[in-house]
Amino acid sequence: MSADTIQRYSTQERLNHWVVAICFILLAASGLALFHPAFFFLNNLLGGGTWARILHPFIGVVMFVSFLGLMARLRADNRITAADRQWMRQYRDVLANREDRLPEVGRFNGGQKYLFWLMAALLLLLLVSGVLVWQPWFAPYFPVWAVRLAAVVHAVSAFLLIAGLIVHIYAALWVKGSVRAMTRGTVSAPWVQKHHPAWLRQIKGGNK
Ligand code: HEM
Repeated sequence: MSADTIQRYSTQERLNHWVVAICFILLAASGLALFHPAFFFLNNLLGGGTWARILHPFIGVVMFVSFLGLMARLRADNRITAADRQWMRQYRDVLANREDRLPEVGRFNGGQKYLFWLMAALLLLLLVSGVLVWQPWFAPYFPVWAVRLAAVVHAVSAFLLIAGLIVHIYAALWVKGSVRAMTRGTVSAPWVQKHHPAWLRQIKGGNK
């Protein structure tokens, strides 16, 4: 690592992130295929319709448990502050790249933090509703109305998570220099100075 390079994620954080991401892709594909025949072809990713139906709930549990790992590692840096709420209110400046007008950003910005907690809430809803509709193991233990309600909650939460992840991936590509943070683990010092100046000061102060 050169002097101009800063470690943003450890190897464990990156492995953890990519396990979650791979699970998400498999779940989104097989979930859409279960939801509507127009997406049936996506079952091929898991070896056909039968395998997709069997594997989807198990991969869901793996994703939930892996996300708990990400939460344990990143929760503290995703705590929402008054500056984050102000950052969100100035979304016009965010979208116009007027970062100089925004409150100083720490390791994560307001958008990343709110999305983090939204992901956590949606994953919890997906897990609980997923267990309720999981045939033949769990669904027979619940009243029909609860299973029907769970099916709706599951579909709505999945839709919101997919929409949220589209924003997450778009933002990662939009802010140049971000993807390498999750692939190589490092970012350039000018990238940190531009997008996360308060974090840079924290690192330099040695109290990270
Ligand atoms: C599927 C493709 C995905 C791509 C290409 C991707 C890309 C990235 C990148 C580049 C970062 C680093 C951003 C930065 O440090 O500023 C990141 C961070 C992160 N990603 Fe992803 N990601 C993907 C999927 C997911 C999924 C499925 C989840 C969870 C449901 C997730 C959760 C996170 C979290 C929690 C962080 C740390 C930032 C934060 O706490 O807000 N990612 N991702």
